[in-house]
Amino acid sequence: MKKHVVVTAVAGALMLGLTAVAWAAKAPKKEYAGSEACKKCHATEFKSWKESYHSKMVRKKDDGILKGVVEKWATDGATPGPTKGNVTGKEFKLDDVEYVVGSKWKQRFLVKNDQTGGLQFMDKQFNRMSGLWEGYGNKNDWNTNCGTCHTTGYRILEYDEKFGKHGRTAKDSYSEMNVGCEACHGAGAKHVKSKSKKDIFFFAGKSKAEQTKVCGYCHNRIENEKFMTAQGNPREDLPAPKVGDTFKPGDDWTKWYPEHAVMPGIQPEDKIDADYTGDLKGLFIKDDKSKEMGAYDAAKHHQQYQEYIQSKHYKNDILSCSDCHGGLHASKKAPAKDAAKSCASCHDASYTIEKYMPGTGQTVKNLFVKTHTFNKNQTRPGGPTAKGEPEYNKK
Ligand code: HEC
Ligand code: HEC
Ligand code: HEC
Ligand code: HEC
Ligand code: HEC
Ligand code: HEC
Repeated sequence: MKKHVVVTAVAGALMLGLTAVAWAAKAPKKEYAGSEACKKCHATEFKSWKESYHSKMVRKKDDGILKGVVEKWATDGATPGPTKGNVTGKEFKLDDVEYVVGSKWKQRFLVKNDQTGGLQFMDKQFNRMSGLWEGYGNKNDWNTNCGTCHTTGYRILEYDEKFGKHGRTAKDSYSEMNVGCEACHGAGAKHVKSKSKKDIFFFAGKSKAEQTKVCGYCHNRIENEKFMTAQGNPREDLPAPKVGDTFKPGDDWTKWYPEHAVMPGIQPEDKIDADYTGDLKGLFIKDDKSKEMGAYDAAKHHQQYQEYIQSKHYKNDILSCSDCHGGLHASKKAPAKDAAKSCASCHDASYTIEKYMPGTGQTVKNLFVKTHTFNKNQTRPGGPTAKGEPEYNKK
């Protein structure tokens, strides 16, 4: 099975005229079938997944661009729209946008990075609720900083160790854009042929912790110094520790390279209430309320795993993420789980989302995601959360 023999090669560094040695692996055999391949036998799951945000994360511009974005690209006088690429500083126009990222809370815009052949972000993002432009300065290629959480079957194929202090990701691959079926069920090419349950990851019968870790692989905020972006900055995601490998549901990623990744609240030595720097600065609210609760609500978004593992729901083995959310898809046996209705099946009517899940994790100006600490002493008023459905610019 271990096909991807690690070889030394002169990788992307050639481009820069360096004689650096890089770790490289062969592109894998076709293990991933792609979500479209699941459709013919799992039509119910497919349809409901297609309607979920997991399938809408990264889309071709014409499929996913918001109506407000097109209307306000250049005309909104008070806060002008995007004009240039963050990495190269080159000017770009609306016509140059290849992909859009996000839609529920905010949208960001991908254009070519001709230095790397990858994709870089433009300098402004769109706030879906306020309808205003905001500055966005991330100076990394999209695929080498965000890829693991926004694609399926992500892997690093070449790592250039001689670049800068810690090297950089020189080549990567993924099976499809977006959080496809196989992000949660594992590579499915074998299952498509065999139709056997043995060849696919499913949730029933797995421990709550194991189920929760599948979701937690992306719903976390960490900093990873083992792997750097194409620009040589620490990655914010967790590609498999071995070049050429990919994450599989069931893997315990919390144990991956403890010396290199800072995982607040996840690795025992990275205390949840410690002071962190960079992207991790101020990731949790640390006030008297937190001390009283003995639980730290997120101050930034995509930290649901780190919040949730502090809760009694998790610690006492009561619920996994998917017990409330399902896979965000319906199945032949049951409709999609409505998380908002879950509380009533175990608690009285005083247990409301408004009270126990205030918006604390800021995702864009004055817009927050709901906390998942489920603490009995929760009294935060919470900030505004996303409402309604995004309006796309469909023709
Ligand atoms: C040719 C038909 C076919 C295709 C294509 C197919 N499946 Fe299946 N799948 C089945 C059958 C039949 C079962 C039931 C197997 C059993 O009960 O032993 C199943 C079972 C499953 C299960 C386990 C369900 C349970 O009962 O817990 C999952 C998860 C799953 N498939 C996911 C996928 C994914 C993801 C894809 C696409 C990569 C896919 N399937 C493609 C036929 C298919
Ligand atoms: C491969 C990474 C990845 C995995 C694995 C993953 N998610 Fe997500 N999830 C995302 C991303 C990215 C978004 C944002 C999608 C968007 O807004 O377009 C998201 C959005 C969500 C949302 C908000 C969407 C909405 O409808 O409001 C929920 C809820 C969610 N995920 C739950 C889960 C659960 C439960 C699991 C595990 C069964 C899981 N996720 C596994 C990446 C992932
Ligand atoms: C560790 C995984 C992870 C990494 C790394 C990551 N994200 Fe996300 N991102 C998520 C998850 C999960 C969500 C949805 C849940 C939330 O926002 O709380 C999300 C939400 C988003 C949204 C809002 C989606 C919407 O529908 O409004 C955008 C835009 C986004 N991410 C862009 C990026 C960009 C750009 C990068 C890289 C600089 C990045 N993300 C890196 C996991 C990640
Ligand atoms: C975000 C993670 C995620 C994604 C993406 C996802 N699933 Fe699931 N899937 C789950 C979870 C979690 C369950 C278990 C549901 C539950 O516990 O109610 C599940 C259950 C299933 C089942 C078993 C249904 C049953 O009756 O038990 C099948 C089949 C399945 N998914 C197929 C798919 C297919 C096909 C896709 C893509 C079109 C897909 N899933 C996308 C997480 C996911
Ligand atoms: C499957 C049943 C179940 C569901 C569904 C459920 N809970 Fe709970 N919840 C429990 C149990 C059991 C406890 C007690 C945990 C303990 O003390 O061991 C609990 C405890 C709590 C607590 C108190 C925790 C503490 O710090 O003492 C809060 C708050 C809470 N739940 C909120 C919610 C909310 C909000 C929802 C819906 C989004 C929800 N629960 C859904 C079973 C459930
Ligand atoms: C006790 C039930 C429960 C559990 C367990 C749970 N969630 Fe949620 N989650 C909810 C509810 C309720 C909402 C709000 C839904 C709504 O507003 O319609 C929500 C919302 C979300 C959102 C969107 C944020 C927002 O502001 O709407 C994401 C992302 C999410 N959950 C991910 C997760 C992940 C990942 C896990 C596991 C680490 C998890 N959830 C565990 C009940 C739960």
